[in-house]
Amino acid sequence: MAILLTGGAGFIGSHTSVELIKAGYDVVLVDDFSNSSPEVLNRLKTITGKEIPFFQGSILDKDFLTQVFQENDIEAVIHFAAFKAVGESVAQPLKYYHNNITGTISLLEVMQEQGVKKIVFSSSATVYGMNNVSPLTEDLPTSATNPYGYTKVMMEQILMDLAKADADWSVTLLRYFNPIGAHESGLIGEAPNGIPNNLMPYITQVAVGKLAELSVFGDDYDTADGTGVRDYIHVVDLANGHALALKHNLTEKGTHIFNLGTGNGYSVLDLVKAFEAENKVAVPYVIKERRPGDIATCYADASKAKEVLGWTAQKDLHDMMRDSWKWQSQNPNGYDK
Ligand code: UFG
Repeated sequence: MAILLTGGAGFIGSHTSVELIKAGYDVVLVDDFSNSSPEVLNRLKTITGKEIPFFQGSILDKDFLTQVFQENDIEAVIHFAAFKAVGESVAQPLKYYHNNITGTISLLEVMQEQGVKKIVFSSSATVYGMNNVSPLTEDLPTSATNPYGYTKVMMEQILMDLAKADADWSVTLLRYFNPIGAHESGLIGEAPNGIPNNLMPYITQVAVGKLAELSVFGDDYDTADGTGVRDYIHVVDLANGHALALKHNLTEKGTHIFNLGTGNGYSVLDLVKAFEAENKVAVPYVIKERRPGDIATCYADASKAKEVLGWTAQKDLHDMMRDSWKWQSQNPNGYDK
């Protein structure tokens, strides 16, 4: 029996593959490389010593997916494949609704046809919207401020409705906070296309000399230093959270929702200072206007994952800063040679 990972070549999918293999699972990866590189597969082989079964194609293609299920003994799916750039989703909403929503429905239809009714879904703290106060607990109302966020809210809803309609389904919704860091080998990491939207890859690309300076989006928030506060979590901790959530999903039917965060908030300037101190590299920055749609503070109440799954983040900000830099400094152009 194997676990199918859609979006398995992506940042979180690739790290989760490593941790699942370490935990003794067989994995099968699907990816269309729309935001990832085939080179990831070579790197995964180096890290794990295994040739991981891989199928290139889109989750929108039901014939393709059906073939993957027929050729492999799939027990459960971890569904990562989705577009995730907030700004792009505002400019091209149909692209996001089609890929994320239609793609998820296509996957769920094939799973149902094939009798595989166990799914762990890659959700986001974005579903807490603008109005909830941190620390965020899983029972808070969900909402969104942009099409990307709405796709996460809607995909959660579709999955919950499915579990309600058919008691055989096991649905686990994992709400990620801000994943950063990289595998300790520096062989896999986050490799965004073009100019990064997120803070950590922006910092590492400034540090490596690809970008001139960081723009800090606002220093007048109601936070200790005025810059935005987020719950940064090491991607290997996040990957281990998937391994434990999967174990739980395999035996527990119904819907289960977990935050995956550390419960700690750090500001933009905390991150810049921690990165400089850890790696002895300068990160020049300028203060700019607030970015539309950003909130002041967002961090998890991570107690449910601890109580139910026995999961807590093990790595601290030093680990995150060191490993983000190891990846970027060893791979200044990401997976491109
Ligand atoms: N920031 C900067 N400069 C940058 C990029 C970001 O100052 O160049 C700031 C932001 O204003 C924010 C913090 O750094 O205060 C973190 O921003 P990110 O873009 O890295 O992360 P977000 O918290 O905005 O977004 C993340 C995910 C989204 C998800 C959202 C809410 O990237 O997918 O969390 O869960 F929707």
